[in-house]
Amino acid sequence: MDTGVEFAGLRLRNPTMLASGILGISYEVMERVYEAGAGAVISKSISVEPREGYRGPIIVRVDSGYVNAVGLANPGVDHLVQELSRHGYAEGSSIGKVPIIVNLVGSDVDEFVYMVRRLDHLSIIGYELNLSCPHVEKVGLEVGDDPELVSRIVRGIRAVTGKPVIAKLGLGAVDMLEVARAAMDSGASAVTAINTIRAMVIDVDTRMPVLGNRVGGLSGRAIKPVAVRCVYELYRAGIPVVGCGGIYDWRDAVEFMLAGAEAVQVGSAVGDGWLDVFNDINMGIRRYMERNGLKSVRELVGVAHRY
Ligand SMILES: Cc1cc2nc3c(=O)[nH]c(=O)nc-3n(C[C@H](O)[C@H](O)[C@H](O)COP(=O)(O)O)c2cc1C
Repeated sequence: MDTGVEFAGLRLRNPTMLASGILGISYEVMERVYEAGAGAVISKSISVEPREGYRGPIIVRVDSGYVNAVGLANPGVDHLVQELSRHGYAEGSSIGKVPIIVNLVGSDVDEFVYMVRRLDHLSIIGYELNLSCPHVEKVGLEVGDDPELVSRIVRGIRAVTGKPVIAKLGLGAVDMLEVARAAMDSGASAVTAINTIRAMVIDVDTRMPVLGNRVGGLSGRAIKPVAVRCVYELYRAGIPVVGCGGIYDWRDAVEFMLAGAEAVQVGSAVGDGWLDVFNDINMGIRRYMERNGLKSVRELVGVAHRY
């Protein structure tokens, strides 16, 4: 039985990845995630310049997930280049010890292209473009809601790298399928669906919005049925998709695959269950495959479309 997956030109030892933004960009932490069983690790969104992010509170727990407004805080692309170079990623080996996908955030073609040029000599395995953060101006969804801009960004990046480029989509004002097609037609290798969903929480005692930024993004169990629906529709449109949103256990992961996901990302569950979640999901998938006589994970992908 083979629990490895191939998607977007990548081969991973299993279909689980750490979602962007959950544990930052420290190499030591990424290594722990990989050792805990993830097939790959996605970095926090990186921008050209360092970003401080919003004032707190930046995250609040709700009944079935979290609402966060971190504000894309990150130390900037130069810092990430140094961090990965210190750990052997600049030494020309074809792959670093930990398969790392770098998530990029920017507001125009030049910013994205600049970052890819800075990073491309490192033995990272690919890029994910954050076109869908729901609560930061001029980046994220504001970019993702402009399919023409998405198209120019992906084309610009494609011209400077041969590595896989995955467009991360969310629920914006423009139909997700339209944005996905713009990305794919311009050379993206796959899409990730979904990012957090714009949301807010108000404290009835203080009568104030809880988050420093007032508005944030909802993640966790609450968004899973929405994310599954998005994956289902993207698969039906023939778009290779990585599922994300409310995956806590192997049942969730299998559900996303049946909807059409070729691989899955785990975010909020890491906050709740720490890193054991990767091994738990992978063991569960393996047992499910054994019970159902499946030889490869691919046999699960899109099966719900038969009915
Ligand atoms: C605290 C927090 C920070 C996040 N930061 C990022 C980020 O920097 N870039 C990004 O593309 N997504 C970011 N996300 C979104 C997640 O990668 C993921 O798409 C979303 O949380 C849905 O998955 P989940 O329900 O498993 O958490 C963040 C999510 C959380 C909860």
